[in-house]
Amino acid sequence: MRRVKPSKRLVPHGAVWFLAGVSDEVIIRAAVREDVPGILLIYNAAVREPAAAYEDVPHTLAQREEWFDYFTGRNYPILVAETDGVIVGWGSLGPHQERMGFRFTGAVAVYVKERSRRQGIGGRLMEALLKAGRERQLHVLLATIDAANEPSLQLHARHGFTKAGVFSEAGCKFGEWRDVIYLQRKLDDRPVP
Ligand SMILES: CC(C)(COP(=O)(O)OP(=O)(O)OC[C@H]1O[C@@H](n2cnc3c(N)ncnc32)[C@H](O)[C@@H]1OP(=O)(O)O)[C@@H](O)C(=O)NCCC(=O)NCCS
Repeated sequence: MRRVKPSKRLVPHGAVWFLAGVSDEVIIRAAVREDVPGILLIYNAAVREPAAAYEDVPHTLAQREEWFDYFTGRNYPILVAETDGVIVGWGSLGPHQERMGFRFTGAVAVYVKERSRRQGIGGRLMEALLKAGRERQLHVLLATIDAANEPSLQLHARHGFTKAGVFSEAGCKFGEWRDVIYLQRKLDDRPVP
């Protein structure tokens, strides 16, 4: 298991500022079905954001369980970041398309609880997903990101993803068209599949 160094922040207490540990440590591990409610909470918080998770209404627990079973049933990884028993982030590596010709292509997603962002958790999840992709002999990873989602675009750029194209108004959320950016990252240089 990879452990992220604890991060610290200043918290106000009356007139005095104390240096407090936000968490003892963050563990990145494979998700189990009992993690789905924690994953759902983070996902549904992102559903409320305009430039993430293209859903207009929150997912139900049953929907997320169905997603979990679909991924794990096909050996697609779902990882969680856990601090003190609480899920603070998750990432998944799924299929781009189910057709045979895309069997070496994966699609990544990373979500971190709002209060736990900018502490390196998204980056650790991404590194673990890249490793999982290599282990599965994937050749290319794709990410589909809203054009206004700067944190996600930056996170992916920092981990070697490059812009493959923009689909103008290909998405919609909360009654508006959304421009969608496709990013890609090659995992190896093998000349043939
Ligand atoms: C995108 C997201 C996963 C990043 O998670 P995170 O834990 O905050 O990311 P990290 O702390 O590991 O940051 C890694 C890098 O991403 C970039 N980044 C993260 N947040 C950023 C922000 N608000 N603005 C600009 N760059 C940002 C930076 O390059 C950062 O490296 P740095 O801190 O050394 O500068 C998080 O913001 C999130 O969950 N957003 C909502 C859900 C979402 O949009 N997910 C992506 C859908 S695929």
